[in-house]
Amino acid sequence: MRLGIKGLTFLLLLVLLVLCSNVSVSDARTGKHWRQKKVPSTSLMRRKVKGKNGNSQKQYSKGNQNPYQPTPSTSPNAPVSPSESPVQGRGYQGPSPTMPPPSSGSGHTLPSPPLLLPPQPPAAPIQNTVFNVIDFGARGDGVTDDTQAFEAAWAAACKVEASTVVVPSELEFVVGPISFSGPYCKPNILFQLDGTILAQTSTRVWGSGLLQWLEFTKLTGIAIQGSGVINGRGQEWWTYSNPNDDDDDEEYNVGLEKMPQMKPTALRFYGSSNVSVTGITIVNSSQCHLKFDSCQGVMVHNLTISSPENSPNTDGIHLQNSKEVSIHHTNLACGKSLIKLN
Ligand SMILES: *[C@@H]1O[C@H](CO)[C@@H](O)[C@H](O)[C@H]1NC(C)=O
Ligand SMILES: *[C@@H]1O[C@H](CO)[C@@H](O)[C@H](O)[C@H]1NC(C)=O
Ligand SMILES: *[C@@H]1O[C@H](CO)[C@@H](O)[C@H](O)[C@H]1NC(C)=O
Repeated sequence: MRLGIKGLTFLLLLVLLVLCSNVSVSDARTGKHWRQKKVPSTSLMRRKVKGKNGNSQKQYSKGNQNPYQPTPSTSPNAPVSPSESPVQGRGYQGPSPTMPPPSSGSGHTLPSPPLLLPPQPPAAPIQNTVFNVIDFGARGDGVTDDTQAFEAAWAAACKVEASTVVVPSELEFVVGPISFSGPYCKPNILFQLDGTILAQTSTRVWGSGLLQWLEFTKLTGIAIQGSGVINGRGQEWWTYSNPNDDDDDEEYNVGLEKMPQMKPTALRFYGSSNVSVTGITIVNSSQCHLKFDSCQGVMVHNLTISSPENSPNTDGIHLQNSKEVSIHHTNLACGKSLIKLN
């Protein structure tokens, strides 16, 4: 009896396929008989589930030999439980090896919407974690002011945990004062500095003077690394903030812009934890090169700081209110004190 049911199911399928594929293989008798029964598509699914058994083909051929018993089709064609629908999806993907040979070719031309795959879930968007300043409009030509591109790249990176801001190598980016902050940024941002950042020397951006040029504040986990250079172009300050300058000269030297008296620290970290600075070079800051204020967990490694011996008041590293600071393998050459603890 069990074989009979399976054979019946096979017949159901075979006839359905034949009906659907416009191949007039079946004779009139069985065709008519089956046409009256609206075969729900679930029986097709059911067969595919059975098709996973290796011996299913043999059972079908036996079933064909048996005299057909018109049993009520309710029991074999019981509603397919929802758990079978994944199988349905799988069976649809490839040509099933248990497809009956006569209709296997045309089986694929079935108008098969009843066998629809579940709608493909949209591919999860891959969140970008790398933000190259070039992609935000930076030119890196050593002339154009790229401050806005840096700010935009930072704003984007700030929203993503463990993101990376990339300043690519072999380019020179002119940048005015920027505060990379702050309290609403996700943790562990990496600032990959391989190119050169040049301080903007137009007096316009400095106003009446600022305490720092590049500032990172209120961050949890901030790392600056790479082989890049931060160049404060302090000579602009050293030359033009000379108090001995004659006011009359200023009138005649319209092209020479006078920098404000207040000289900015090149790179300052404030109120941040887990800060590391590795690999980079800081040159010719107009004043202090690197300052940590109210930071916890500072690691400075393989850093190079240089400014001319005769440059006025240029310190290497200032540490203020900071705890757990480690500085090692660092090459400092400055005009004044190398490391100053306040
Ligand atoms: C410190 O920051 C680095 C990257 O900036 C991160 O991988 C690490 O997990 C952080 N450590 C702690 C203790 O927050
Ligand atoms: C130090 O940094 C430079 C890039 O500025 C890099 O090429 C070098 O491998 C680093 N050395 C160590 C020991 O990390
Ligand atoms: C740093 O300043 C000195 C003095 O003005 C200058 O000779 C040198 O080229 C500067 N270094 C860089 C990398 O700009």
